[in-house]
Amino acid sequence: MIRGRAPALPLALVERLRAARTVAALTGAGVSAESGVPTFRDAQTGLWATFDPTQLATPSAFARNPKFVWDWYAWRRELLAGARPNPGHHALAAIARHVPQFRLITQNVDGLHQAAGSAGIVELHGNIGRVRCSRGCGTVARWADASPDEPPRCATCGAFLRPDVVWFEEMLPPAALAAAEDAVRHCDVLLVIGTAAEVYPAAALPHAARQCGATVVEINPRPTALSDDVHHVLRGPAGVVLPALVAATWPPPK
Ligand code: OAD
Repeated sequence: MIRGRAPALPLALVERLRAARTVAALTGAGVSAESGVPTFRDAQTGLWATFDPTQLATPSAFARNPKFVWDWYAWRRELLAGARPNPGHHALAAIARHVPQFRLITQNVDGLHQAAGSAGIVELHGNIGRVRCSRGCGTVARWADASPDEPPRCATCGAFLRPDVVWFEEMLPPAALAAAEDAVRHCDVLLVIGTAAEVYPAAALPHAARQCGATVVEINPRPTALSDDVHHVLRGPAGVVLPALVAATWPPPK
């Protein structure tokens, strides 16, 4: 059930978006909130309000207790088992059909953008549907194909497999970061959706976009660290605002 009303959409934004040749979007956990997926920093309901990230989402936590960390990610996967893309995910997939070039960059690991039909997604923080060798021998597999051990062992080198997601204290996948930086530096409009804009280097991307001349738009029901540095703030839930923005910018043929 999606609650909330779409805020007023500035005509200047609608016209800028309609004329755009390249559009990019940077999403965070908030775009999946209306699919029932917990965010990280929302008060009371966010994962980091409930769990200590240093005990779960760091290489040292995994080295200290692989099963504990593995089980927590298995629990998060279970949460996702029933999650479906919401109208916000579908609206982003629709934008790709309206503009010559659309690049979707996500911090999310939930795979819901792929499930909504988006393609060419830049996964800055990995994907919880994949596992990889914790020793870095190069093995990558679908979590669903991994053996039921908790955690399973790498078939190549025998080390534990781990979720293919970025942990704190880790670098982002260099190719993904480079693709994201290229996308935001060469877009006419950047939509920043459902992120608290607190985790770097992802949080630096909107500033790079603005420095390169893009119109930067924040879509979020609450203010963030970025709100004062964007051209337009659409204060509302992604599942309501994005479909309204797409309908206003590219109205269906009469
Ligand atoms: P956060 O949980 O930090 O922020 C979620 C944002 O979504 C907040 O600004 C909310 O106001 C907003 N929000 C909530 N409901 C929304 C809705 N229906 N529509 C739109 N926005 C909504 O999540 P992220 O900013 O994505 O890192 O967190 C960034 C990174 O920090 C994550 O990728 C993760 C975490 O530690 C890694 O996994 C490496």
